[in-house]
Amino acid sequence: MDLGTSSSSSSSGLVKAKSETLAEALKSSSLDFSNDDGSSHGSKQHVMMARTLSSSSHSSSSKYRRNTHIRKAKSAHPALDLAGLTGGAALSRASSASHGISFSFTGFTVPHEEIIASERCSNEDFLEDIEAATSSVVKFQAEPTFPIYLKFIDITYKVTTKGMTSSSEKSILNGISGSAYPGELLALMGPSGSGKTTLLNFFGGRFNQQNVSGLVSYNDKPYSKHLKTRIGFVTQEDVLFPHLTVIETLTYTARLRLPKTLTKQEKEQRAVSVIQELGLERCQGTMIGGSFVRGVSGGERKRVSIGNEIMTNPSLLLLDEPTSSLDSTTALKIVQMLQSIAKAGKTVVTTIHQPSSRLFHRFDKLVVLSRGSLLYFGKASDAMSYFSSIGCSPLLAMNPAEFLLDLANGNMNDISIPSALKKKMKMENSCSEIRSSKPTPTIVYEYLEEAYKTQISVVEKKKLMAPVPLEEEVKLMITCPKREWGLSWWEQYCLLSLRGIKERRHDYFSWLRVTQVLSTAIILGLLWWQSDIHHPKGLQDQVGLLFFIAVFWGFFPVFTAIFTFPQERAMLSKERESNMYRLSAYFVARTTSDLPLDLILPVLFLVVVYFMAGLRLSAESFFLSVLTVFLCIVAAQGLGLAIGASLMDLKKATTLASVTVMTFMLAGGYFVKKVPVFIAWIRFMSFNYHTYKLLVKVQYQEIMENVNGEEIESGIKEVSALVAMIIGYRLLAYLSLRRMKLHSST
Ligand SMILES: Nc1ncnc2c1ncn2[C@@H]1O[C@H](COP(=O)(O)OP(=O)(O)OP(=O)(O)O)[C@@H](O)[C@H]1O
Ligand SMILES: [Mg+2]
Repeated sequence: MDLGTSSSSSSSGLVKAKSETLAEALKSSSLDFSNDDGSSHGSKQHVMMARTLSSSSHSSSSKYRRNTHIRKAKSAHPALDLAGLTGGAALSRASSASHGISFSFTGFTVPHEEIIASERCSNEDFLEDIEAATSSVVKFQAEPTFPIYLKFIDITYKVTTKGMTSSSEKSILNGISGSAYPGELLALMGPSGSGKTTLLNFFGGRFNQQNVSGLVSYNDKPYSKHLKTRIGFVTQEDVLFPHLTVIETLTYTARLRLPKTLTKQEKEQRAVSVIQELGLERCQGTMIGGSFVRGVSGGERKRVSIGNEIMTNPSLLLLDEPTSSLDSTTALKIVQMLQSIAKAGKTVVTTIHQPSSRLFHRFDKLVVLSRGSLLYFGKASDAMSYFSSIGCSPLLAMNPAEFLLDLANGNMNDISIPSALKKKMKMENSCSEIRSSKPTPTIVYEYLEEAYKTQISVVEKKKLMAPVPLEEEVKLMITCPKREWGLSWWEQYCLLSLRGIKERRHDYFSWLRVTQVLSTAIILGLLWWQSDIHHPKGLQDQVGLLFFIAVFWGFFPVFTAIFTFPQERAMLSKERESNMYRLSAYFVARTTSDLPLDLILPVLFLVVVYFMAGLRLSAESFFLSVLTVFLCIVAAQGLGLAIGASLMDLKKATTLASVTVMTFMLAGGYFVKKVPVFIAWIRFMSFNYHTYKLLVKVQYQEIMENVNGEEIESGIKEVSALVAMIIGYRLLAYLSLRRMKLHSST
């Protein structure tokens, strides 16, 4: 365990020994916990064991505490040993005590003199077992929460759907109004396709201006991109790197997104606290997984996504179905956590499907949507009385959420039918031949929409017009262009490179690629075995080999580089939406981290071909040939990156790349020598042409003046052209990424 002080070797050794014992104990005890929510008893035991450790290790570690304001009583909150962060094992509360650092979702603490408030997490009556572990976290609030009052007034959104012959307009949202204030948890409910995700995207500023009317305001100000860092958005689909483990994912997020004021250890500590709060201890060392890689379960993946967002302590937290695919106990735990985040002064908005009744009672406010229209907005606790006031009451004891969803779906089974609806039904029945005892969903939906408009809408809108109770200065803070990166450019570059290498470590030593290159090299070596340039046909053959090398190493890199950005598009959009890093740092990291391996293969290839084919035996010409091939590879990669980044669509990109590569190959100077003037310029754009000329120069400059009728030149022009391509194509790729749309059409 790293106590963060160099002079603490003896006592840190003691604590280390203890935390290792603890880790062992935890490992063996955690084997018994088979339920998904392993934190339930697992955490309980962690708490007990860690408490013992905490008390015994206090004496040894207290002198390293930088801040005396962390009371002993508080030291019992869960925190992972920092060594465990990389080793993935040891749990130690003592470590957090000795650090004086704590994090909870309601805020986080750093060793800071001005910790303004501390409160114990509220232990709720439900699930005391589960919460014994999680809610014992002492909640400090080191960072004053910046309040965000979210209002949305008359949001209307239409899309134009284009058919084969005509286009029609479809209404997705019809005049939705409401609000969510600091301290409140707003739930968006409604059947599938009712517009919940669309509405949430509007709150997160993820929409294009077309076909949208209405206003979303944050502290009475419109959305501005400076809000990005204050908003956390958990999307419906999880976007995570499949090959990173849970702890790696969260640690990278912490290091990239948390402010500079925190040290590396503090950031890592925060990631560990998030893992504990979300009950992810058992799977922290497991890979996330994806479509082709087995990894953590769907629920665990969702919790990692939530962890990524709550890490930064956002003022406005938006979640799209955070509880889908979770069992009811874990779902409740998540909602309790959201409630406690809200209680700490944050604004939380979540969409939700099928909440249990216990879960429903946790919501402060509720929006019920149906087919894009508002059926209810107001306090969640008043929803039932409102619907009974308009004549819709459950006839059986029913989960209120189920009742509301039935209504939103127009299903009146076991629900009293208001007299107005009965009248409408009679009228419908008299008009049509089919008689039914229940109203049709459309009639129910029209009735409910109308009822909301007449009964609540006007009053609520009036409330929304009232200004936000904040000083104008505070309101303006929302638009201040303060953008602080968590790390410097260089640190971001290093971290992103490391993350990239970890994520792609499996692809790196792909034996398939090595075999492909080596077998091609051997076949070439055999076909050109000890070629002799003194023989008239020998020279012609060798020149052919050089041209093939130029084409081979121009072709491969283009097609591997094409995939780079389109494959990471979703992740890049997500991380750029939250201003996680500079695009330039990502770009350079992404384009350089694979370079070392990309340059090992051509060396292997050339070693085999060069000596088997009997090319010019001198160290100088061998290394110059290697260098020439390097230049060709890096230039070709640039072209692949530029095509991939500008089109961001693999099908289109591969089509364009194959045409381009073929053109460059044909213009490479081997197949056709007498090119018409109006198209001759194309060969200067071909990296094959420049590479071929350089390879010929390296081989024959000392023994002949021209090869195949072409004069051997100094080579400066060719090198300059390749360097210009290396830079130019990459610049194009970078600019294309800058222009990339971050969100889809919503
Ligand atoms: N760009 C679009 N073009 C056409 N239809 C769209 C577009 N965007 C959204 N929709 C439609 O709008 C409706 C609302 O979609 P949305 O994703 O908001 O639903 P939802 O309430 O989140 O559903 P779910 O609970 O299944 O996630 C859907 O019927 C969807 O098909
Ligand atoms: Mg949705």
